[in-house]
Amino acid sequence: MSAPADRIPDPLLAPGEEELDQTLRPRRLSEFVGQEAVKEQLSIFLEAARARNEPCEHVLLAGPPGLGKTSLAGIIAAEMSSALRIMSGPAIDRKADMAAIMTALEPNDVLFIDEIHRLNRSIEELLYPAMEDGCIDIVIGQGPGAHAIRLDLAPFTLVGATTRTGLLTTPLRDRFGITHRLEHYRPQEIEQIVRRSAGILAVEIDEGGCSEIARRSRGTPRVANRILRRVRDFAQVRHDGVISHEVASEALELFEVDDLGLERIDREILRRVAETFSGGPVGLSTLAVAIGEEPDTLEDVYEPYLLQMGLLQRTPRGRVVTNAAYKHLGLTVPDRDPRLF
Ligand SMILES: Nc1ncnc2c1ncn2[C@@H]1O[C@H](COP(=O)(O)OP(=O)(O)OP(=O)(O)O)[C@@H](O)[C@H]1O
Ligand SMILES: [Mg+2]
Repeated sequence: MSAPADRIPDPLLAPGEEELDQTLRPRRLSEFVGQEAVKEQLSIFLEAARARNEPCEHVLLAGPPGLGKTSLAGIIAAEMSSALRIMSGPAIDRKADMAAIMTALEPNDVLFIDEIHRLNRSIEELLYPAMEDGCIDIVIGQGPGAHAIRLDLAPFTLVGATTRTGLLTTPLRDRFGITHRLEHYRPQEIEQIVRRSAGILAVEIDEGGCSEIARRSRGTPRVANRILRRVRDFAQVRHDGVISHEVASEALELFEVDDLGLERIDREILRRVAETFSGGPVGLSTLAVAIGEEPDTLEDVYEPYLLQMGLLQRTPRGRVVTNAAYKHLGLTVPDRDPRLF
């Protein structure tokens, strides 16, 4: 499949939830909670571009899943009153398809490429002149009759999203005028997001309920929204529908989301390293096989939070679990060589 998708299906969402997620997505910069530095800078660039009636500079958004990259791409288009064209890096496999998409852009359109670090190299090379000089060179025909032609593009903004800036090539990274790294949100910001989402979903929730959900959402808006929906079901079926602190913590216990916000799979990862691999070091791909996940998913989705919480560490020889992880799992901390860490 190489046509641009209208929407990117979100692998972390169960079927049907995606639609709900669309309603929770902030549409304007003013609705986007947190990431104050990013918002402030973007608002300046957007206002300046609008005043000049030019597209905004190309923007690269990096950061772990669920922190708002896709939402920000939509916001950039909305604030510029431009159309948003969405495509996913790995889905484009032919140069001709990419050329067709780019030549169809209207002035000031926002082209969003998700997972831009997974673009294939020849397609990435097509982007270089497109981003820099607003044109692409394509080869028509084959053999001795083949000749290159240059096509001018409408001025556009490329918004690239990546969970891993480290995998982006330097020529591509350098062509973005604006680069932002999204960080995990603070508990108060997640609370604000939970309150906003509860309002949209018409769920009654008190301060205690908000803070309990926020505390266990690992600083990630998508996780907060997902937990909110689960807790809403629980409150409706087992209680009177109102989410209080008690209702939220009872629900989270039932759903096996622990005090640190770890879910079953997170604990499984730590337990595997601790028990099967004697605490590590264990290589990423070996660990991925052991838990039945793709190495990419392990690295992009699960690891960032475990690393951030100091439960897991990356060493040159592989992943190791920390003493804090043993304690969290209720296991005896082994006597290990401290030089391993
Ligand atoms: N700053 C925010 N304020 C309010 N809601 C947010 C914010 N950021 C994200 N969300 C919510 O979290 C959901 C996930 O955000 P989004 O899809 O933009 O993340 P992403 O960074 O693109 O993730 P991925 O890397 O998996 O594509 C959104 O649907 C939205 O409801
Ligand atoms: Mg996204």
